[in-house]
Amino acid sequence: MRYDILTIFPQFFESPFSFGILKKAQEKRIIKISSHDIRMFARDKHKTVDDKPYGGGSGMVMKPEPLGTAIEAAKLKGAKSLVILTSPQGERFSDRIAKELSQFDQLIIICGRYEGIDERIREIYVDKEISIGDYVLSGGEYAALVIIDAVSRFIPGVLGNEASPHDDSFSGGLLEHPQYTRPEEYNGIAVPQILLSGNHRELEVWRRKESIKKTFIRRPDLLDSTDLTEEDLEFVDELRKQNPPSFRVYIALVHYPVYNRELKIVNTAFVNLDVHDIARAVRTYGVKGFFLVQPVTDQQILVERVLWHWMEGPGASFNGTRVEALKLVWIKNSLDDVSDEIEKLEGLRPKVVATDARKRKKMTGYTELKERIMSGKEPYLILFGTGWGLAEEVMDASDFVLKPVDGLTGYNHLSVRSAAPIILDRLFSSKV
Ligand code: ADE
Repeated sequence: MRYDILTIFPQFFESPFSFGILKKAQEKRIIKISSHDIRMFARDKHKTVDDKPYGGGSGMVMKPEPLGTAIEAAKLKGAKSLVILTSPQGERFSDRIAKELSQFDQLIIICGRYEGIDERIREIYVDKEISIGDYVLSGGEYAALVIIDAVSRFIPGVLGNEASPHDDSFSGGLLEHPQYTRPEEYNGIAVPQILLSGNHRELEVWRRKESIKKTFIRRPDLLDSTDLTEEDLEFVDELRKQNPPSFRVYIALVHYPVYNRELKIVNTAFVNLDVHDIARAVRTYGVKGFFLVQPVTDQQILVERVLWHWMEGPGASFNGTRVEALKLVWIKNSLDDVSDEIEKLEGLRPKVVATDARKRKKMTGYTELKERIMSGKEPYLILFGTGWGLAEEVMDASDFVLKPVDGLTGYNHLSVRSAAPIILDRLFSSKV
């Protein structure tokens, strides 16, 4: 593999590649790393590589001519080459991309600086734009270092032990199992017995389980692109039993006060399907309670009859799993009564999160809400409106309003029994 780095700071790369694995790989001629000064390709006497952006704005833009000439000069004839631009707008770098890139003969890496490069360079030459993370670096040189190191590890011969890149964290989509070395006991903590047993088969099983456990707890998102075997899945089920969700979340389906289609405040009637479907989602995603806010006595009696049918009446023997979901349902007269009940259960009043299909100012995103909930500091109550949505007074009294569930089409008419499970999935899904 040949790496050609195009930069305005070629000296930047002098020391990082003079150590360890990459130094050895260069000595063995498995990889060759060259950095080229883009200024050398500027034609004017001041060696200008940047200029003011057309249309104004702060900062400078890298000029197209020196860069274009540098790329042309770097390209090896007949080689399988790829031109990469490092930039915060690129595709997120990953182990999978590193492995793909290791298949090329030559990577030409343009280190972006200033406000970016002239768009025409991107159009004509750039094959792949890569970001190493959602933060802004002062130059693409740092990203180039990361890319070269991660890619080289996949090139045969770079690591002494051929198997090791595939055992590392992320290969196969799992984090790496814990490692130990001598002494056998350190600060009162002993090395797990299995590592001393010499039983290779059992050791492999232990390592796999430890990897799955670490990934399940720390980075469940990685499991989305991991293929787990049947044995792995059985182990995940065990983990779920040992670690039931620790967050304290309740939801309420509000029948009053909500809007009707004329935007008048009304009390809606209870919908059997909503209660069943949302209760099943509540049980699936680990929500601790599902409150139906319904002040009308006749409506409450009706719901109680339905619940009785499924929990104690003929429905119970017809579908036992439904009982597990419906026993999480509570009927309450008002939202205040719901918060009082949660306070009794949890010792704290919940933070209230309203949901709405409409956009409004100051809405909270799913990542932020998830982080808050997972921090476990306080209980949360998520409100779902029936009819045409929660009344403004409910929105105003809430601590957060969650962003609407929305697709890419501009059409947004989900039923509450569709929106609620989608929201629960965005907050509490397992990607196994
Ligand atoms: N240049 C500036 N920030 C960057 C990032 N996050 N990834 C790649 N190149 C960059």
